[in-house]
Amino acid sequence: MTQRTARITFSDSDQVIDLPVLEGTLGTDVIDTRSLGAHGYFTFDPGFLSTASCTSSITYIDGDAGLLYYRGYPIEQLAQHSDFMEVSYLLLHGELPTAQQKADFNNTVRYHTMLHDQMAYFFRGFRRDAHPMAVMVGMVGAMSAFYRDSSDPFDPVQREIAAYRLLAKVPTIAAWSYKYNVGMPFMYPQNRLGFAENFLYMMFATPCEDYHPNPVLSRALDRILILHADHEQNASTSTVRVAGSSGANPFACIAAGIASLWGPLHGGANEAVLKMLEEIGDVSRIGEVIQRAKDRSNPFRLMGFGHRIYKNMDPRAALMRQTCHEVLDELGLHDDPLFRIALKLEEIALQDDYFIEKKLYPNVDFYSGIVLRALGIPMSMFTAIFALARTAGWVAQWYEMVSAAGHKIARPRQLYTGEQRRDYLPIELR
Ligand code: CMC
Repeated sequence: MTQRTARITFSDSDQVIDLPVLEGTLGTDVIDTRSLGAHGYFTFDPGFLSTASCTSSITYIDGDAGLLYYRGYPIEQLAQHSDFMEVSYLLLHGELPTAQQKADFNNTVRYHTMLHDQMAYFFRGFRRDAHPMAVMVGMVGAMSAFYRDSSDPFDPVQREIAAYRLLAKVPTIAAWSYKYNVGMPFMYPQNRLGFAENFLYMMFATPCEDYHPNPVLSRALDRILILHADHEQNASTSTVRVAGSSGANPFACIAAGIASLWGPLHGGANEAVLKMLEEIGDVSRIGEVIQRAKDRSNPFRLMGFGHRIYKNMDPRAALMRQTCHEVLDELGLHDDPLFRIALKLEEIALQDDYFIEKKLYPNVDFYSGIVLRALGIPMSMFTAIFALARTAGWVAQWYEMVSAAGHKIARPRQLYTGEQRRDYLPIELR
């Protein structure tokens, strides 16, 4: 088959540039602009609105249809039938595990959950009131200092150990950043427990009493982790890839991803949604908030609404709404006032011309905060939980990049708009 090309012509010359058009297995075709520099041009796309930064076979999103697939499997099927460990295996290895592979994977992750004991002292250097995400950026970055024997991205064995260490230890770091924050003793991971149960144990158990995680709530947390596990080339994943492209060690790369995730336009949105719902306080005030979000002179946005890719319902938001119902029912909180405000806010926004025209729908963060709050998770931990789920995706994406042949350091170009060359002026002449 002949290669399809796209032709660039210029209004002020006869120059013609033909560029190859690449086709993936699903989704939008991509014009390969790599040779443009040799013709004396770069492309301009701040914010990557139309730029594919890599090839990837991990996650596919169709934003218009509201579809999300991990390795080809629809998120709805994974949320219903799978569990977070199995999904992590799938993201990392490309296929669902057999029963034996699943048991081995679970075991390996389980036996990597404990932190180097000296890391406990490292926590103590932080202020008690530090935000858990601040502690996580520091502690995950600090893993580079404690696990130097698995920090070479180009050694396949070290790479694999690093992947396990990150998947297993980030939840321990997240839970301990909370324990440190509230002045409670660190709880060591329990190898008898499943992944989500173990996290709840490390968050809520104390040395003084028995703690048995509620299976319905553990399952709800596990589902939240599945829904957040990967989302192709979002800001934090791209950050991990850019950091990793220089050959930086995996712990530093994931710490960079955590820093990027923290922003309120990305993973910080779940915390921002809950603060917003609390501020609204009553369904009677929803109209006022919608007006504020529509006012162009006001920077306020309806948190948990809108998405760069989804111009339809975020499939994760629909699943999260369902989880919200299940958790609140289990806990006898059907009348939770924040959930009522959220449902009404969604209903009103979805009928409003501004939101319809701009195709703004609830995203994954709109309902996740309500579920997490019902599980007893403090608001300051919401983004940390997103981070521990997304670690699966970050690790898989980093792994895919560093193990691919001929990967290149990420080095974007720019459109320079500063001063042209000028001569230094001695201070008395300025
Ligand atoms: N409320 C009110 N107006 C909005 C909102 C919102 N939540 N989101 C977008 N708009 C408007 C925006 O003002 C702009 O209007 P105009 O064309 O008149 O300038 C238009 O819609 C397009 O918005 P944009 O900012 O150019 O779109 P983007 O693709 O760059 O941004 C977004 C996507 C998610 C950052 C944005 O929708 C937003 O800020 N949402 C609120 C924060 C949020 O919920 N973030 C979580 C995202 S999902 C989880 C994750 O990725 O981590």
